[in-house]
Amino acid sequence: METIQIHDKHFVPFINRDKIERYVEFIAKQIAQDLGPNEVPIFIGILNGSFMFAADFVRKYPHECHITFVKMASYEGVNSTGKIKHLVGINEDLEGRTVVILEDIIDTGNTLAEIYEIFRDKKVKQLKIATLFFKPDVFRKELPIDYIGKSIEDKFIVGYGLDYDGLGRNLSDIYQLKV
Ligand code: IMP
Ligand code: MG
Repeated sequence: METIQIHDKHFVPFINRDKIERYVEFIAKQIAQDLGPNEVPIFIGILNGSFMFAADFVRKYPHECHITFVKMASYEGVNSTGKIKHLVGINEDLEGRTVVILEDIIDTGNTLAEIYEIFRDKKVKQLKIATLFFKPDVFRKELPIDYIGKSIEDKFIVGYGLDYDGLGRNLSDIYQLKV
């Protein structure tokens, strides 16, 4: 692994594919252990960033499961709160289901807060959050994160689904912004 350039910035090798695989496996094992073989969860990947994580994750998940993807989108609300976030792509009826959100990375937690808000009235049996990466130093919320692959320092990363201005998602390894 060598230093790379994306747009105007330089990135150094940070987490290689073998380590990523271990973090993904670690999360899959924990969830499988907690839910057991009889629960059929629905995993929901948050696009775009989690597509690679979700694809690898379900291959490590040893029991029956459903997998779907959603995208967060904002539109102008008709009330005074202005922008309202909603999910595009949920067609399944989630009532009574065990839902596990798959996130690529949780940073400030703003996206996570929106997800909790959206799922509040969906009458799910249980809602769990799994994130491959977590930046504890910038996290500002009092919200539970059930499964964390790896906590990392507050530096921008790319690769394995994560982008810098649209590029870098296709990299198999994770790179960190060189400062
Ligand atoms: P949050 O709402 O601040 O927790 O950040 C959520 C989203 O920002 C993530 O799902 C990513 O898409 C993006 N993001 C946060 N940190 C990084 C990073 O280091 N590299 C690339 N994308 C990031
Ligand atoms: Mg994301």
